[in-house]
Amino acid sequence: MVETSASGGRSHYQRLDLKRWIPAFLSSHKTLFSVLWIVGFATVFIWQRNIVPGLLVFRTAPASSSSELRPVAFNLKDFGGVGDGVTVNTKAFERAVSAIAKLGKRGGGQLNVQSGFWLTGPFNLTSHMTLFLEEDAVILGIEDEKFWPLMPPLPSYGYGREHPGPRYGSLIHGQYLKDVVITGDNGTINGQGQAWWKKYRQKLLNHTRGPLVQIMWSSNIRISNITLRDSPFWTLHPFACKDVTITNVTILAPVLEAPNTDGIDPDSCENVVIEDCYISVGDDGIAIKSGWDQYGIAYGRPSTNILIRNLVVRSMVSAGVSIGSEMSGGVSNVTVENVHVWESRRAIRIKTSPGRGGYVRNVNYRNLTFDNVRVGIVIKTDYNEHPDDGYDRKAFPILEGISFTGIHGQGVRVPVRIHGSEDIPVMNVTFRDMLVGITYKKKHIFQCAFVQGRVIGTVFPVPCENLDQYDEQERLAKRSTSQNITEIDYDF
Ligand SMILES: *[C@@H]1O[C@H](CO)[C@@H](O)[C@H](O)[C@H]1NC(C)=O
Ligand SMILES: *[C@@H]1O[C@H](CO)[C@@H](O)[C@H](O)[C@H]1NC(C)=O
Ligand SMILES: *[C@@H]1O[C@H](CO)[C@@H](O)[C@H](O)[C@H]1NC(C)=O
Ligand SMILES: *[C@@H]1O[C@H](CO)[C@@H](O)[C@H](O)[C@H]1NC(C)=O
Ligand SMILES: *[C@@H]1O[C@H](CO)[C@@H](O)[C@H](O)[C@H]1NC(C)=O
Ligand SMILES: *[C@@H]1O[C@H](CO)[C@@H](O)[C@H](O)[C@H]1NC(C)=O
Ligand SMILES: *[C@@H]1O[C@H](CO)[C@@H](O)[C@H](O)[C@H]1NC(C)=O
Ligand SMILES: *[C@@H]1O[C@H](CO)[C@@H](O)[C@H](O)[C@H]1NC(C)=O
Ligand SMILES: *[C@@H]1O[C@H](CO)[C@@H](O)[C@H](O)[C@H]1NC(C)=O
Repeated sequence: MVETSASGGRSHYQRLDLKRWIPAFLSSHKTLFSVLWIVGFATVFIWQRNIVPGLLVFRTAPASSSSELRPVAFNLKDFGGVGDGVTVNTKAFERAVSAIAKLGKRGGGQLNVQSGFWLTGPFNLTSHMTLFLEEDAVILGIEDEKFWPLMPPLPSYGYGREHPGPRYGSLIHGQYLKDVVITGDNGTINGQGQAWWKKYRQKLLNHTRGPLVQIMWSSNIRISNITLRDSPFWTLHPFACKDVTITNVTILAPVLEAPNTDGIDPDSCENVVIEDCYISVGDDGIAIKSGWDQYGIAYGRPSTNILIRNLVVRSMVSAGVSIGSEMSGGVSNVTVENVHVWESRRAIRIKTSPGRGGYVRNVNYRNLTFDNVRVGIVIKTDYNEHPDDGYDRKAFPILEGISFTGIHGQGVRVPVRIHGSEDIPVMNVTFRDMLVGITYKKKHIFQCAFVQGRVIGTVFPVPCENLDQYDEQERLAKRSTSQNITEIDYDF
């Protein structure tokens, strides 16, 4: 296959050549002078060639992360790709991926998708691969489900999420991979979900819809500088992965009538950073998960060490940032900070139910802004959606160590609704520095049931009686006598 003319590798060799013949000419000042001219010219020339659009990644990638400097770059066109929006490019993608798969030992390769509309069926990525979407490059998912291969259900779900048995795979997929980069100059992966949502509503599908991008059992995954839109189902689904970074990604789907188009679902994943993203979708913006009831408990793989920061999120149907409801493998050590949720139904939600088992623990929310949301913070412990009747009714999840610091906003109807239960009490909750503008001057808009924890300093609106009150210096001011009072009102 053709190596694109301006690959980083080639320039590197040219520089080596220059170094070798320079000493031989250093005998006179005159030649030294001409040599300096040539070297200067060559440097500018190489630099010029390196700023060809789409290869920006070579110039800007930090020297330390060598895996981003793929020695070889291809264009999809080299493999027969046609970006006319009509030609099906699945084979072209497959050929490109297998060419890159052969380069794994030498640092892998980059596949550039240039400006155009590249229709394709689902395809798999390979290790040590960079998929680079140039400006105005659009990968379009084929609408006809016949092109979408079926896959076994996820082991921690036991089922496709919507139907028993197998499920459709994702448009862009990967399993057991290492070192995968999906990036670009804000090119787009568009799932053309409209056809899927319609068939789903009309109950014409026999299998669970496929995600847009799903990477499973993989490590060192970096996704940045692209737009993902109109996924048939969840948009970006890292499953049982380690070391995942998602930066500066725009995720879009209609805010209404785009069922289950979650933005990002880190599922049984470890060491995940999601930052600087804009997400506006038809379900949860982000939903941290770890498997469903007895299947998730048996699989036993938690989501842990998750950092989410600097997001703008909108979710008219569900919530900006959620944990659950599938959390049976456990979720711990989560930080969510500098998040702005606007024009949404809920901002932050933890959802679970009897049967899930597992735990949600050590979760810290900091500097959240709620801008016109119905309910700010929700913890719901009766989200009774089960894969089948085989779940253990006594498998109660543990919810503990959840803190909220710096919670601000305006136009919020119910700022807090923490609905613990006798079987699933919510333990060790902390509120500190909260001031949220409300739309209804009703009482009991800070709603609690079976909650143990504390409020430090002033918190507005007036917190529920369930919580202990501490002053700014963290001295106990008033101990709650009634952690179990139930003041939940779903009517507003
Ligand atoms: C991708 O790889 C998985 C696992 O090997 C396989 O089940 C699936 O069919 C592949 N998908 C495509 C579109 O080739
Ligand atoms: C985010 O991505 C856009 C293109 O998608 C790019 O122009 C911008 O520089 C990126 N921002 C950062 C901070 O990397
Ligand atoms: C990237 O493209 C999306 C969709 O076209 C757009 O909404 C977003 O503003 C763009 N991002 C940047 C940084 O230009
Ligand atoms: C679903 O199954 C029915 C009955 O077997 C079949 O007629 C229909 O074509 C299937 N639909 C899809 C989208 O596969
Ligand atoms: C995103 O794009 C910007 C502008 O091209 C670049 O500076 C930055 O390094 C890219 N970031 C990542 C993580 O790819
Ligand atoms: C918790 O997660 C952060 C990343 O968000 C990580 O830096 C830290 O080491 C983790 N702490 C533990 C105890 O694993
Ligand atoms: C809080 O988050 C907002 C974004 O929602 C950000 O602009 C602001 O700088 C953050 N404040 C602090 C103190 O980090
Ligand atoms: C309560 O939660 C806080 C974090 O929110 C944590 O620092 C503290 O150790 C927890 N206390 C107990 C007794 O678990
Ligand atoms: C409150 O509920 C918890 C957990 O369900 C229980 O252990 C405790 O005894 C109850 N306290 C009171 C005062 O009823």
